[in-house]
Amino acid sequence: MGLKEGFLWGGAITANQVEGAWNIDGKGPSVADVATYKPNVDVKDYKKQVGVTSKSIQEALQTDDTKYYPKRHGIDFYHRYPEDIELFGELGFKTLRISIAWSRIFPTGEEAEPNQKGLDFYKRVFREMHKYNIEPLVTLSHYEMPLNLAIKYNGWVDRRVIEMFKRFCDSCFHEFKDDVKYWLTFNEIDSVTRHPFTSAGIIPDKSENLLKDEYQAFHHQFVASALVTKDCHEIIPGSQVGCMLTKLTDYPNSSDPRDVLASFNKNTMNYFAGDVQVFGEYPPLILDFFKKNGLKIKMSAEDLRILKENTVDFVSFSYYMSTVSSYNEGNLELTAGNTVVGGKNPHLKTTDWGWTVDPVGLRISLLQLYDRYHKPLFVVENGMGAKDTLTEDKKIHDDYRIDYFREHFREMIKAVDAGVDLIGYTSWAPIDLVSASTSQMSKRYGFIYVDEDDLGNGSLNRYKKDSFDWYQKVIASNGENL
Ligand code: BG6
Repeated sequence: MGLKEGFLWGGAITANQVEGAWNIDGKGPSVADVATYKPNVDVKDYKKQVGVTSKSIQEALQTDDTKYYPKRHGIDFYHRYPEDIELFGELGFKTLRISIAWSRIFPTGEEAEPNQKGLDFYKRVFREMHKYNIEPLVTLSHYEMPLNLAIKYNGWVDRRVIEMFKRFCDSCFHEFKDDVKYWLTFNEIDSVTRHPFTSAGIIPDKSENLLKDEYQAFHHQFVASALVTKDCHEIIPGSQVGCMLTKLTDYPNSSDPRDVLASFNKNTMNYFAGDVQVFGEYPPLILDFFKKNGLKIKMSAEDLRILKENTVDFVSFSYYMSTVSSYNEGNLELTAGNTVVGGKNPHLKTTDWGWTVDPVGLRISLLQLYDRYHKPLFVVENGMGAKDTLTEDKKIHDDYRIDYFREHFREMIKAVDAGVDLIGYTSWAPIDLVSASTSQMSKRYGFIYVDEDDLGNGSLNRYKKDSFDWYQKVIASNGENL
């Protein structure tokens, strides 16, 4: 059996972690441009890593510094994309997942017309991909909304943002209708409650009732996602639009039914966004959660109709690690993870950043998602952040990364053999980039090493790691040569 012919192997990156050029060619500041690098931050203190206040945003706006705001310089993909895409071509990529920075196209989000220079940049990038037969997979919102919308509207809490997002997306659909077939609306849409600013432009100190604002923002994103899914289908016949979920697979800490229930509740909350986007309606358990917490979320009958009529074509997700839950959380040893801190599983190893390594969890995740949604799946993020060493002869011997991917691919293929319809797999990330959470460069994910340190020093030269050759063979053999 194995993977189907035409399986979309590739890698995933995002505008704000690679492009740099944060204030060039008309781009406005985005929420990512005020994210700071905090040396010595505790990796388990997730809130501290990504937290902002009105004051920290104002301070950020008063400086052009890029050293402590590393997403402003990224890895200079804005200028080096031909070289990087050539390397992806050499890897044999069938697809590359990128995102379009909203504030490059609509600098404040409020303009009536798009910034042509921003559109032209992505046109050049897509042209370069097509040169190597790389199919673009494009995320419309990946943690980079115009900062103005966060400051002025408290981000997605305000319903008017829906219209502005629609204007941005429609401009992209018209401009790139001949270039892009696969689209994702919101990256890790379920993350609004985990990092409200990065994900939805919500400045916590501006909210009187943060929990209510977060779920109101969720609702507006769902409606926006449904509306642009409809537009995409109309403007680009044959296009495919997916949702993008963070698969935070959780296990009970023991067979104690109370632990099983705690884990069930955690997974249910994690599924809620996918349920809305796939089934087109709010699941009963989340409606009950709203009621119990006194959350009166404004949603009209028209909104509910829009959700029902415009569901997604496929389900994409990130998968990095798993956690365990207990009714007695105090009993658990905690560990860091992708946008979360959770109970540590004693059966699993962890990465340099404390994330558990759980390849079987990927198989479980694929089976769970397929069983629940019966929709084609796409793994659009998976990988490990590690400390790499560049040797004097410019080599990186990253066997640990090869081992990580090999084990995950074995389990992924077993899920496919069990009947899961899987469209493709894009690793996070094929090239080293600035970390979303910690803004570090030293947390390296790539098959390609970028000579740059946490403070932006370095030649920015690209070097192939040992994993580069390995992944190239995996793709060439469509997953047989692991
Ligand atoms: C996902 C994000 O949450 O995880 C990516 O979609 C991010 O943008 C990735 O980079 C890995 O997280 P981090 O914090 O290690 O960069």
